[in-house]
Amino acid sequence: MTRGIQFEGRPVWAEISLSAITHNLHLVRRKIGKKRRILAVVKANAYGLGAVEVSKHLSRLGVEAFGVTCSSEGIELREAGICQPILLLTGFWSGEEKRILHHNLTPTIARLDQLRLLERAAAKSRARKSPKKFRFHLKIDSGMNRLGISPGQIGAFIREYAACPHLELAGTFTHFASADDLRSTQNEQQENIFADVLSQLREAGVSPGIVHMANSGAICARESTWSDMVRPGAVLYGYHQSFEPPEVAASVKRDMRLKPCLSFRARIISLREVAAGQPVGYSAKFVADHSSRIAVIAAGYADGIVRQRSNRGCVIVRGRLVPLVGTISMDLSMVDVTDVPGVALGDVVTIYGQDGKTAIHADQIAHQIGTVTSDLLCALGRRVPRFYIS
Ligand SMILES: Cc1ncc(COP(=O)(O)O)c(C=O)c1O
Repeated sequence: MTRGIQFEGRPVWAEISLSAITHNLHLVRRKIGKKRRILAVVKANAYGLGAVEVSKHLSRLGVEAFGVTCSSEGIELREAGICQPILLLTGFWSGEEKRILHHNLTPTIARLDQLRLLERAAAKSRARKSPKKFRFHLKIDSGMNRLGISPGQIGAFIREYAACPHLELAGTFTHFASADDLRSTQNEQQENIFADVLSQLREAGVSPGIVHMANSGAICARESTWSDMVRPGAVLYGYHQSFEPPEVAASVKRDMRLKPCLSFRARIISLREVAAGQPVGYSAKFVADHSSRIAVIAAGYADGIVRQRSNRGCVIVRGRLVPLVGTISMDLSMVDVTDVPGVALGDVVTIYGQDGKTAIHADQIAHQIGTVTSDLLCALGRRVPRFYIS
């Protein structure tokens, strides 16, 4: 049985294995070859795992760039001493240009009008006394219909860009809508549309810079998308997508044996005997059908046990899988530990991770409740202390 980490405070915590992240990064490197670059996606606080610690670790391991959502996430990394290029994946908001330039972040242009805003700011910036141009990446909407310049706007982009002497197109990218569905033809369509846009740029004498498109799913299963750089998020943290069809998923997983980096644990803070017929928790959504021993654990939905897990799925106590029972509340959850010999107050409960020979990981739970692993990782509460284990 895992003994858990002892610290002062409410007994719920996350252990993040840096050696698992190292292992996963090496697998990605081995897969794509040494010549391609890796942009580690550490947006949303590195999927809830802690952007600063995770990025410092990945920086020491030599990743070439980082991807975040917005300028405040980028500034947090700069202030923590990250020196690699930091790409703002979802662009920027009008008014943010100055701080982006000041912190040497790399903005994404996802709308034509952003090019003018950026050129104006770059021209104004005192740093523009240097002959170096200010670098940005261009996002192409190749068919996801979410964010990016559409292929029909490329001519206009080329004309506008020619009038931006202070800017340099340092990269061009797109994003896949269905990278984890190996039966879908959408990936190929997106690749073709993107390739056509790249040709248009080159024919007009515009270098697209570093070309990138592959997220985790495409890294694992679509070599044709690796291009100059890949953008792994979930795989770095040790989680595969739920690939379709399942037979292919099994072979992808065999080929890349990731190590999940997160263990999410709490302790039992109360134990009680509940007679048959008695309800447990809010709205009496669980009623004991036999005399049961119910443990209360110091973790609820504000900590990251999502509410969809009410009466659903298991956690591990003393190396055994035991069911969550009743409604998950904000700070507490209940577990039926009737079948766990010797169960005691203070025992460690593993919500995700390994305890002895038994393991249950965030990707399995995500699959069970019909969501993606990133959704569960991002749900880890701010008040849950993160411990980084080497
Ligand atoms: C533009 C972009 N690239 C890469 C990623 C990484 O995705 P994944 O976690 O599937 O590797 C994301 C994540 O949503 C993204 O938005």
